[in-house]
Amino acid sequence: MPADASRTEPSLASRPGPYRPSAWPAAAIAAEAPRWLMPSYKNTPIVFERGEGPWNIAADGRRYLDFSAGVAVNALGHGHPDLVAAIAEQSARLIHQSNYWHNAHAVPLAADLCARFERACRDAAGVEVEARAFFCNSGGEGTEAAVKLVRRYHSRVRGQPRPAIVSMHGSFHGRTFAAMSATAQPKYQDGFAPLLPGFRYATFGDLDSVAAQIDGEVGAVFIEVVQGEGGVCVPPPGFFRRLRDLCDAKGVLLALDEVQTGLGRTGTMFAFEQEGVAPDLIWLAKALGGGMPVGAVIARREVAEALQPGTHATTFGANALVTYVGRVVLGVFDRDRLVERSAELGAALQAALRARLGDHPRVRAIRGRGLMIGVQISGDLTTVISACRDRGLLVSPAGGDVVRMTPPLVIDRDDIAFAVAQLADSL
Ligand SMILES: Cc1ncc(COP(=O)(O)O)c(C=O)c1O
Repeated sequence: MPADASRTEPSLASRPGPYRPSAWPAAAIAAEAPRWLMPSYKNTPIVFERGEGPWNIAADGRRYLDFSAGVAVNALGHGHPDLVAAIAEQSARLIHQSNYWHNAHAVPLAADLCARFERACRDAAGVEVEARAFFCNSGGEGTEAAVKLVRRYHSRVRGQPRPAIVSMHGSFHGRTFAAMSATAQPKYQDGFAPLLPGFRYATFGDLDSVAAQIDGEVGAVFIEVVQGEGGVCVPPPGFFRRLRDLCDAKGVLLALDEVQTGLGRTGTMFAFEQEGVAPDLIWLAKALGGGMPVGAVIARREVAEALQPGTHATTFGANALVTYVGRVVLGVFDRDRLVERSAELGAALQAALRARLGDHPRVRAIRGRGLMIGVQISGDLTTVISACRDRGLLVSPAGGDVVRMTPPLVIDRDDIAFAVAQLADSL
């Protein structure tokens, strides 16, 4: 008899089927939310239950065309069969193990992302780089890793600490402490002082203002190629090329936050490709997992080597499930030409918006790249966003006066017509 045979252990339940928690009525969810959730989000009392392509279906059966895509996340739309199969199949094989070991997908996904980055640097700027990736779980964590990477690169690889980072007014880099400190918008920093030291701010698109912040303390410039939360702000022509030259002249790293712009959103795989520059590092999140939480920092080898074993880590980062899903997302992008689709349909959406709203008295500007488009309006933004929602169109606010459209890359021209008509009616 085995030594522990007398031990009584709780038995594992027999399994007639998968465990399913009880369903809450939609009304109860909205009513109970303030009792159980910290009030950090201003939720609209709609409970989404399902999604089909670019459509969301609420508990009451109402359908909404999703031109937000969870703020530029659901690039493949909702319920995409390849994504659903990927999640089901990989979770049945292996979801998570620690980074003490390899899994089957993190290295292949890193190879794919790095190869795309290397190709983009070559094609955009004629620069040959060898890249390395680090996986995290969100955009903010990407920013966090980028701050650690650039600081450690200067202090340990170059041997001279240059801890300061210049970021842009109106930027958004996330809500962790480093990311919030890089996010040069007072409303996101309010009440959280002291911030992480070492951040300086310049004006997006204004090279002189960036140059004025750079001295021997500055190790990197952090910048979005198109500012998303800041109001879908597109850089002036040639700005990034001059910024690259400035960074080179001063020994400063050019660090691009491509969390929102990356992976086809702006009509190229990376937004920097349209600027003719090769950055030293970028970070991605949002679209990479199609809705699963995964992010990646990609850096030139010399910079990447700053993160030696033990210097940075995250428990969930690079797990088998999210990295498999990332591979599937990129594969579907290629198979279905979603980057090209973003460019084509983005041009069509901008043209339709201009045709319908170009002369509207409340429309001040229509701008963007690919399927990342902002309509800057006068008057109350919240009312317009709510009116769109009541007409079955989901859009998100940006910059205080911009209706932002970041639809799934799988929309079609009928979706564009519907969205433009609803926005026009709402205005
Ligand atoms: C450019 C940019 N960087 C970082 C973030 C933060 O990402 P997350 O919310 O996943 O932390 C966002 C989120 O909107 C973003 O747009």
